Amino acid sequence: MSPDRNSDLSRRIREKAAAVFAEIRAIRRDIHAHPELSYEEFRTSAIIHEYLKGLGIEPEPQFLETGVVAVLEGEAEGAASGPQIALRADIDALPLSEENACEFSSRTAGTMHACGHDMHTAMLLGAASILSSMRHELRGSVLFIFQPAEEKAPGGARPLIDAGIFKRFNPAAIIGQHCFPNVPSGSVALCKGSFMAAADELYFTISGQGGHASAPHKAADPVLAAAHIITACQHLVSRVAPPHEPAVVSISSIQGGHAPNVIPSRVVMSGTMRTMNEEVRALLHEKLRQTVRHVGEGLGVEAEVEIRQGYPVLYNDPEITRNAAIACSEYLGREHVIDSEPLMTAEDFAYYLQERAGTFWQIGTGLPDQDRSNMLHSPTFYPDEEALGTGAGLLAYSAMRFMDFLGGGKR
Ligand code: NI
Repeated sequence: MSPDRNSDLSRRIREKAAAVFAEIRAIRRDIHAHPELSYEEFRTSAIIHEYLKGLGIEPEPQFLETGVVAVLEGEAEGAASGPQIALRADIDALPLSEENACEFSSRTAGTMHACGHDMHTAMLLGAASILSSMRHELRGSVLFIFQPAEEKAPGGARPLIDAGIFKRFNPAAIIGQHCFPNVPSGSVALCKGSFMAAADELYFTISGQGGHASAPHKAADPVLAAAHIITACQHLVSRVAPPHEPAVVSISSIQGGHAPNVIPSRVVMSGTMRTMNEEVRALLHEKLRQTVRHVGEGLGVEAEVEIRQGYPVLYNDPEITRNAAIACSEYLGREHVIDSEPLMTAEDFAYYLQERAGTFWQIGTGLPDQDRSNMLHSPTFYPDEEALGTGAGLLAYSAMRFMDFLGGGKR
């Protein structure tokens, strides 16, 4: 495709994004005022369903109880054999109470869209609107995935895959985005390769023999053992993980004992492990189990660790991410495309990327005068709504450009 064609396409999509802005902002505010927790997104799913139908996009039969999946077939010549591009938004809210006071603040006590999934939903609906108005130009198809339950293990992505979404559809690439207040509104940040961490929960049980604190030789002290285990676990990052591989082990909770003169019989602890490489992750799991068991044995107590595996490493395909950066530069201008560092947070989009090549980028929602109160998962998270138009247009433009990149079209 020629540069002229791309700049014309980008201009037309920006105009369409501006035209749909008020509509998707109203949807975002409605969803924001009526947040729903993971797997309970019935109202939100109904809004999505209705909107897509209004665009002439018929939602597919349900894969899960909540969430919506739909396909937009292109109508350009050869579209039937063109590539399918999947675009995904997560739709659930978090269990916390909103502290912003505005006309669309959460009306459900204890539930808030504090991670911007209301924004993601509205942006993807905006992209659907833009793309449906251009279906005669689409040289492939677009799979829209409105996914439930990103915030609650085991997440919604894995169940969607287990329910056969990739047996039924075969996207050549998948793109997802997440609001980030650290990225200026109007910009996007991308990262090639490992972008987000595998997040595993650690649960320790240390069983000894309780007794009088004045006679420790007649007891087996799990408190002392706990102290040694906490310290010993730090060697996993400093002496087991390769120095060039990021890893975190944090033991963040410890409970045991109730009186100054009583050695308790049990201590329980919990923590988190974050890794950016599945081999390092497996190695640290094995060494953690060994360390905990052997330190406990050496100190005369029984120590076990249970590892609950969370989301895997989120790996952005380098080639797809390079092409995404090209599309983003064409649409936003090169100065609005930022290289992101890897993050130690986790995201269940990682499961799709184990099945299909794709990329997950950060869509900027930050304004210059905002401070720490605007963090994700905070009760005062307040994204810039202008990002709705940016994100909707960017998804639509990228989907069309990926049909060029993956469909063998000339560039
Ligand atoms: Ni989120």
